[in-house]
Amino acid sequence: MNIAKARQNFIDRTARKPHGSWAKKTYNDPKAHYKSFDILLDKLQLTQDDCYLEIGCGGGVLLEKALQVVANAAAIDHSADMIATANNKLIEINPDRYDLKTGDAVKLPWDNDSFTAAASANMFFFVEQPQEVLNEISRVLQPGGRFAMVTMGKSLLGKITFGWLYSLRTYSDKEMSKMLEQAGFTKIEVKSGLSSTQVCYAEKPE
Ligand SMILES: C[S@@+](CC[C@H](N)C(=O)[O-])C[C@H]1O[C@@H](n2cnc3c(N)ncnc32)[C@H](O)[C@@H]1O
Repeated sequence: MNIAKARQNFIDRTARKPHGSWAKKTYNDPKAHYKSFDILLDKLQLTQDDCYLEIGCGGGVLLEKALQVVANAAAIDHSADMIATANNKLIEINPDRYDLKTGDAVKLPWDNDSFTAAASANMFFFVEQPQEVLNEISRVLQPGGRFAMVTMGKSLLGKITFGWLYSLRTYSDKEMSKMLEQAGFTKIEVKSGLSSTQVCYAEKPE
């Protein structure tokens, strides 16, 4: 195997499409991501009446937290191992309350206007068709639906750390705002912090 292929395999196995026993164990308890989960829950202010969607749910930790509040939830991830890990995590919860799908975020397997709130943590930087994915999230949200996302912004610190190692796709706050606007969102807030985390929030117009 050549070096470029080995690097792609490493990126896939550990983060872009995590699979195998190390990935299952890591994403079952992704300690480095807990802060982003808190940010998203704070932005969305979920209530019992929400129908929640998560894009790229990994091992399901944020999903489980959301299900402590909302009545119903759904999630998608293109890694079958991550969906299995998330299913395991939700074992104590009534399966009628959630719908987990293995699939690509570029084509969400739900009808228009299905959800009132959506979140995505630490995955958008792997997405190859960012505008299409945002369009899909907007499509499946009901009018007034909220969307919150944590990804990596365009910063030198990000680039010299994970950005380069993982070939991450990053966008300036202005570029991200523009994509959200093109997807039909309003009340858009995009802010990159010093740590290179980019926090995004937007709503679908009523
Ligand atoms: C770095 S992990 C983050 C997992 C979880 N959100 C967290 O914060 O712990 C990225 C996740 O996004 C998923 N993912 C990446 N691109 C995807 C795509 N196009 N469609 C669906 N899932 C995707 C990966 O399989 C992986 O589980």
